Amino acid sequence: MWAMQDGNLMPLADCKVSVLDRGYLFGDGVYEVARLYRGRPYLLTEHLDRLERSLEAMGMVGWNRRVCETRLRQLLDHAKPDSGLFYMQITRGAPSVRKHAFPSPAVDLAELMYVAPLAPHPEENYTHGCAVVTHEDIRWGRCHIKSINLLGNVFAAQYAKQRGAYEAVLVNKAGRVLEGSHTNLFWVRNGVLGTAPLTENILPGTTRDRVLSIASQQGIAVDYSPLSVEALKECDEVFITATTIEVMPVRSIDGEVVGEPGPVTNRLLRAYRDDVDRFLSIPA
Ligand code: PDD
Repeated sequence: MWAMQDGNLMPLADCKVSVLDRGYLFGDGVYEVARLYRGRPYLLTEHLDRLERSLEAMGMVGWNRRVCETRLRQLLDHAKPDSGLFYMQITRGAPSVRKHAFPSPAVDLAELMYVAPLAPHPEENYTHGCAVVTHEDIRWGRCHIKSINLLGNVFAAQYAKQRGAYEAVLVNKAGRVLEGSHTNLFWVRNGVLGTAPLTENILPGTTRDRVLSIASQQGIAVDYSPLSVEALKECDEVFITATTIEVMPVRSIDGEVVGEPGPVTNRLLRAYRDDVDRFLSIPA
């Protein structure tokens, strides 16, 4: 696997990080994961836009988007990946002493990007839906920032794994469903698509956004009203979205069956894949 670390192209296994790097010490950094289809990054503009917003919200200055795009191009030209993913993270760098407050004067940000294969998801997750479990949301209050500090997500994902479920749906203190540990959440009631609004403590997913545009093109109504766990279990259809999984139907929640993938979910999954095909049909 190939990486580009601070502008240096090298095998991923050869990358080195200082033990004083603030990402390593404090989880003080941000990241992005984009999908590569036939070696081309899908929704790259949207991922880099979100990265810029994350950096700004973190008060991290000194990142240059044009330089980053050039580096990414060099990495892709060299690695020649097929399908897979592109991971990128930027931390607040490695000052000479460990202090909680931001380094002053600031030190250079540390940038890592690499391409990696993506293990295929079980096809039956798409044909019959996946199992999810609910878990309390113990994350911090700024989940719109795609921070590398992911312990709340890690605990929830591990809880799901131990129960044989694909994903954990995070529930806030008010009992409202928000999103998954690494996915956004959608539901369908009486033909109307629902998802948590961005005013809740969730990540503005690039796939979520694309699915919402597709829904609007297809004349599917969208409702952003909050939903309880109990109401989620009563929905006609439930699905999750993310760069790595596209649109994945949910078959059961906490062992209670929602059902086989429904018509709205299937329509959106097909339309999403058509959108990827359209992207691939445009010359690079
Ligand atoms: N996770 N919500 C959370 C908490 C996420 O971590 C992710 C993505 C999403 C979906 O966002 P997008 O559609 O832009 O991928 C929603 C990535 C894939 C990860 O952490 O690996």
